[in-house]
Amino acid sequence: MVTGKLMKLGQRLGCVLALSVLALVLWSVPGTKALDNGLAMTPTMGWLHWERFMCNVDCTEEPDSCISEQLFMQMADLMVSDGWKDAGYQYLCIDDCWMAPTRDSKGRLQADPERFPGGIHHLANYVHSKGLKLGIYADVGQKTCAGYPGSFGYYDIDAKTFADWEVDLLKFDGCFCDSVKHLADGYKHMSLALNRTGRSIVYSCEWPLYLWPFHKPNYTEIRQYCNHWRNFGDIFDSWQSVKGILDWSSSNQDTIVDVAGPGGWNDPDMLVIGNFGLSWDQQVTQMALWAIMAAPLLMSNDLRHISPQAKALLQDKDVIAINQDILGKQGYLLRKEDKFEVWERPLSNLAWAVAIRSLREIGGPHSHTISVATLGRAAACNPACLITQLLPVKKELGLFEWTSALKMQINPTGTVLVRIKKPS
Ligand code: GLA
Repeated sequence: MVTGKLMKLGQRLGCVLALSVLALVLWSVPGTKALDNGLAMTPTMGWLHWERFMCNVDCTEEPDSCISEQLFMQMADLMVSDGWKDAGYQYLCIDDCWMAPTRDSKGRLQADPERFPGGIHHLANYVHSKGLKLGIYADVGQKTCAGYPGSFGYYDIDAKTFADWEVDLLKFDGCFCDSVKHLADGYKHMSLALNRTGRSIVYSCEWPLYLWPFHKPNYTEIRQYCNHWRNFGDIFDSWQSVKGILDWSSSNQDTIVDVAGPGGWNDPDMLVIGNFGLSWDQQVTQMALWAIMAAPLLMSNDLRHISPQAKALLQDKDVIAINQDILGKQGYLLRKEDKFEVWERPLSNLAWAVAIRSLREIGGPHSHTISVATLGRAAACNPACLITQLLPVKKELGLFEWTSALKMQINPTGTVLVRIKKPS
């Protein structure tokens, strides 16, 4: 009898242990399979022309800001000389409006001959010679969003053309697609076509963004085909736009957070830090929250004219390390209280990143106190932790015990980002 009871207890304990191990394993591995191209094991970092330069094709009137090979060569030079490459920004990406208005006699896309006289392969060689990678843009439908030739009916040819040109990333837009079926078929077809070229090409999709008006996207499926995917409308150079993206991301976090992981990421769109529309505190908020959200860090700004402060923020090694953390877990909004949002993200080595964002848009700095016991699934500071503030400025805050409170001053619309780790 006693042995029987002991055996039952042993079995139960064994079972509990096995379940805990299983839970730990399930929690640390993304539930769904990623696109199997070995790329984007951490969120892609680079520069993308759209938000800052848009579809400026007037090189006569505005030679310095039109979409041309000169613009990309200048950005490539600066990415190396000004420390962007060393900070991790590797992909230099062309968006819409690079193409000539028609395909060539063999049905291939071609660059606008006046604005890209050397052609894309030549530009790719230049970019590669700098140790960077080149991204390009195309569209799943009949036309790109700006009206240039779309890839519908040409997926295999276009994939081959991009591989022949030695392109390293494709942003595939979803304009002018006539049905949800064509959208899904097209995104999948292009993914497989890129893989068949044998070249490593990061595949950046906008598939869910174009699906949401019809139905909730199947993210498990999208992750199997794309390395990152846009969910929400285009970012603008404004606080309202950045706020809208944050609100959408937290409102939909139950749907989007768990699907992210090495090989596949939610893309809340470009970083607009260094432009005109965001105050300093709002730029800090974008950088901190894009790190928490494990977002691709694709800057859209003018690297020729950027303030030292914006540059330092974008090149902040500690914040980039959070964004690029190898555990690859996207963070989430933990709670909203007293006009503050508390976001957290699990990191490798049992560390956590926590962002406290002020929702106030009036008045001055406001203080907010949180009990550290509530952070990191009640484990981050159990029994104690070391906290370092990373943004808006780096400061060691010291050792905190389970029962301690963390008090911070936060500017209106600003964010304080901290890293919490176990004392060694
Ligand atoms: C769409 C995309 C943008 C940009 C433009 C280009 O709006 O969402 O990111 O690529 O098209 O026309």
